[in-house]
Amino acid sequence: MIALQSNAADQRGAADLGLLPPKDLALCFGGGDFVKIGRKLLRRLVDWCGLLPSERVLDVGCGAGRAAVPLTSYLSDHGRYEGFDTYPFGVNWCREHITPAFPNFRFQTADVFNALYNPFGTVRARDFRFPYADDSFDLAILNSVFTHMLPEDVVGYAAELGRVLDQGGRAYVTWFLLDDETRGLVAATGGTLRFAHRFGACHLENPDDPEEAVGYERSFAFKVLEGAGLRVRGAYPGSWCGRRADNYQDVVVVEAAR
Ligand SMILES: C[S@@+](CC[C@H](N)C(=O)[O-])C[C@H]1O[C@@H](n2cnc3c(N)ncnc32)[C@H](O)[C@@H]1O
Repeated sequence: MIALQSNAADQRGAADLGLLPPKDLALCFGGGDFVKIGRKLLRRLVDWCGLLPSERVLDVGCGAGRAAVPLTSYLSDHGRYEGFDTYPFGVNWCREHITPAFPNFRFQTADVFNALYNPFGTVRARDFRFPYADDSFDLAILNSVFTHMLPEDVVGYAAELGRVLDQGGRAYVTWFLLDDETRGLVAATGGTLRFAHRFGACHLENPDDPEEAVGYERSFAFKVLEGAGLRVRGAYPGSWCGRRADNYQDVVVVEAAR
């Protein structure tokens, strides 16, 4: 196990400086203990994706900085973090509170449509080009983002991931993946989600609000990733379907295959 402290052994992160979003804002991006969940995520980025302190990180759907906050105590001055999200309130908080203390952490709003988070967004995710150059990141995070996106949009974002990741770049991507095993577990335990409504290439929890929770056949998800030049390097099944696991959503770690 790699130690979590970065090269700068006495580096104080945003949480140490009291830079945490107000509870009602943090709640918009999922409940639970904001700091504890963020630290767990960082642990996985290091252990499962081999994240190094000097690397360039992209956080797609950065929310209110749940990944950024712990990363401020891990990335060194040589590292860089860029986050974007469709929901301006989270981005604005991060920009106003994290960037002044950690100038190598930057955040921007993308006016991309999402029925839940940005219903008046003007651009469809499938048409959105990430605002970064080709080959400009070593690690991308999509934590609880594809779980709120429809198939064509996921295909477009996977292609963009393939474009912005540098050679050897990795991505930590969470999903709700469906296969015979998860269907059996849901039938036996009830799970926390059932995805009973087929909708084109995906399965919805709530057809009245498609992007509330979106599930994908495992084979479809892997095909999309591989089609974008992203080789699956590890899969960590989650507990959402009633499985015993430490992570709730399924995590897939991919590597840019060039
Ligand atoms: C459940 S929250 C997770 C936020 C953050 N990743 C975290 O773990 O705290 C889902 C996030 O995805 C963002 N999102 C949804 N669709 C998006 C899209 N097409 N592009 C970028 N962000 C998106 C939402 O605005 C929201 O912040």
